[in-house]
Amino acid sequence: MIRDIYIINGPNLNLLGKRERDIYGSESFENYFIELKKKFAEVRLYYFQSNHEGRLIDKIQEVGYMPKTGIILNAAGYTHTSIAIGDTVAAIDNKVIEVHISDVLNREDFRKHSYVKEYAHAFISGKGLAGYDEAIELLNNL
Ligand code: DQA
Repeated sequence: MIRDIYIINGPNLNLLGKRERDIYGSESFENYFIELKKKFAEVRLYYFQSNHEGRLIDKIQEVGYMPKTGIILNAAGYTHTSIAIGDTVAAIDNKVIEVHISDVLNREDFRKHSYVKEYAHAFISGKGLAGYDEAIELLNNL
């Protein structure tokens, strides 16, 4: 049973609410995270965001072997470029749910490929912020 869930967001996701609102919506992740914690009070939720590839890798490694821990990863732009983040997801023991707010399979071609997908337990895309709710439910039901 999963007790701790780490949400790890990649570059530019600190701008949610002000970046391309037609695609990513007008809510900041910080506000949304308050609601998430209320909704899923039975698990301990943690949120980490970085614009730096190496910091994301350090965090995934740090939590990737913790007992009873699941990871929700939105590697944002690095999804489509980072062999290194894909390698980290492959390396760790804990399950990773890959989440994208927008529908990456129906946008520009370069967004169709993910270096994470092959090693992730599940892939959720195009459901807006609700994709994170779905990912928590998935981890809770493991
Ligand atoms: C994203 C989709 C990526 O293609 C993009 O680079 C992002 C956000 C999403 O959540 O829809 O920054 O991961």
